[in-house]
Amino acid sequence: MDHARRRLLSGLLASGAMAATPSAIARSAVPRVPPPSQGNPPPPDAKFSRPLRVPGQRGLLAEVRLAGTLDLTASVGSHALFPGLATALWNYTGKVAGLPVDNPLLIARQGGEIDVVLHNRIGRDTTIHWHGMMVDEANDGSGLHPVRHGAQRRYRFPVRNRAGLYWYHAHPHFHTGRQVHQGLAGLLLVEDAEELALRGQLGLPWGERDIPLLIADKQVGRNNALAYGAGADDWIGNRVLVNWTPEPFLDAPQGLYRFRMANLSNARMLRPAFVHRGQPLPFHLLGTDGGLLERAWPLRDLFLAPAQRADVLVDLSQVPAGERVLLRSLAYAPMENDAAATGEDPMLEHPGAPAMGAPMDLMELRVRTGTHAVAPVPAPLSRLAAPPVDSAPTRRFTLRISDAGRWLINDWNYLLDGHGPRFEVRRGSRETWEFRNAFRSMPHPLHLHGFAFRVLAREGSPAQLRASAAASGGRTPQDLGLLDTVVVWPGETVRIAIDFAQPCRGPQVYMLHCHNLEHEDQGMMVAFAVVD
Ligand code: C2O
Ligand code: CU
Ligand code: CU
Repeated sequence: MDHARRRLLSGLLASGAMAATPSAIARSAVPRVPPPSQGNPPPPDAKFSRPLRVPGQRGLLAEVRLAGTLDLTASVGSHALFPGLATALWNYTGKVAGLPVDNPLLIARQGGEIDVVLHNRIGRDTTIHWHGMMVDEANDGSGLHPVRHGAQRRYRFPVRNRAGLYWYHAHPHFHTGRQVHQGLAGLLLVEDAEELALRGQLGLPWGERDIPLLIADKQVGRNNALAYGAGADDWIGNRVLVNWTPEPFLDAPQGLYRFRMANLSNARMLRPAFVHRGQPLPFHLLGTDGGLLERAWPLRDLFLAPAQRADVLVDLSQVPAGERVLLRSLAYAPMENDAAATGEDPMLEHPGAPAMGAPMDLMELRVRTGTHAVAPVPAPLSRLAAPPVDSAPTRRFTLRISDAGRWLINDWNYLLDGHGPRFEVRRGSRETWEFRNAFRSMPHPLHLHGFAFRVLAREGSPAQLRASAAASGGRTPQDLGLLDTVVVWPGETVRIAIDFAQPCRGPQVYMLHCHNLEHEDQGMMVAFAVVD
């Protein structure tokens, strides 16, 4: 069914139920147990039967240390992801040292340069957006600068960001969801002196005990094809790929592990935890979207929304050899309050897909005897400028769904109402933005292009989030880092502080949008200009 119509229907039905108190609705929004899959079942493939792909020299997740110009071609590749037929994956492919690389893990140094030429052979407009990077508009790769099929575009900019795990993906207006789901995405690791010093202290060999995890659910249909519905809504999938491997295992000698997780799912929020004998193990959060926190925070799980990253340290030295630890996304209340009253069935569009908020096993760690010394968690990790005091917001943004079933930011829909900048920000200014999400809504992972931000405060947070509050203003450990994406839950108000300093001139237009990619494509986005 068409997105807008479906939401309209949901809205009409839900309005009859609005007499219920907010908490009653919230309670009703517990994860539904997925019914046995109908339609096209996912291909038969025992879970945890394939080893985790780690950064290598060729193919998917090949590691490419950037130096000079890299040519990447957006095209359809063929990859044996599942048993049986190969999967047509849309990927950024190139050649490095004579070897083919696909959706490579790019590695850059702060102070270095990114110089990538995109060649478009994907049969439609595309781009490369450098998610989380501080760039000028011309290099941002938003839909304002589409690259036509057969054309090319050079992205070239200095790496200003601090060390952290960033990523890159296609971002054409209204088609980002499809292109990312079909594969056009990869990781970008930025290194700096501080990060390299930390690595020295931890002594975890890269690719063995220090591993990036690109996590994305995909809807897999007949013949191992990645299936994406036209006009899709909240595209959740029936399989999870970690580093392009379905539900992999990792052979894990006892000791310490550092995982740099990135949720590259279109719409599915994850709640990762390391589960041993049914219990989540303690781990430390070292960093977020924009790199290291000031100090490591002990946690047992966290919410990782689409586009967010988490750098974690987990100690497997006490897990007996021969036992397994599951990287699991724990159950949570999805709070899809806009649709909860209808009992809308996500299985209709996503056969076999666990409902949003249902537990999902992502990866198995097979623990075996190991002798690696466990270094203490370094403290402090980094220094961040203190965020400004929580002052009256410079701007306010409301998030809500229209009666016609369209997601709106300040009553604006990018698809229906236009692409021009909605407001101007003075370069070098510091602003406080307030996001207020309606109660009859969904969690929205809001993403800002071009600038990192700090969270100042949350109000009206749901209990499942409040439980992990660790600092003033109801902030969670994740909120204490530098972010480019922040979740605003239904009924919640979140204030962030942004420093609009940048070494560019003239108007530069950026996007603020929901990183649920179907919401973005359906117009939950506004453009704004940074001006002198
Ligand atoms: Cu990762 Cu505008 O997106
Ligand atoms: Cu972005
Ligand atoms: Cu959204």
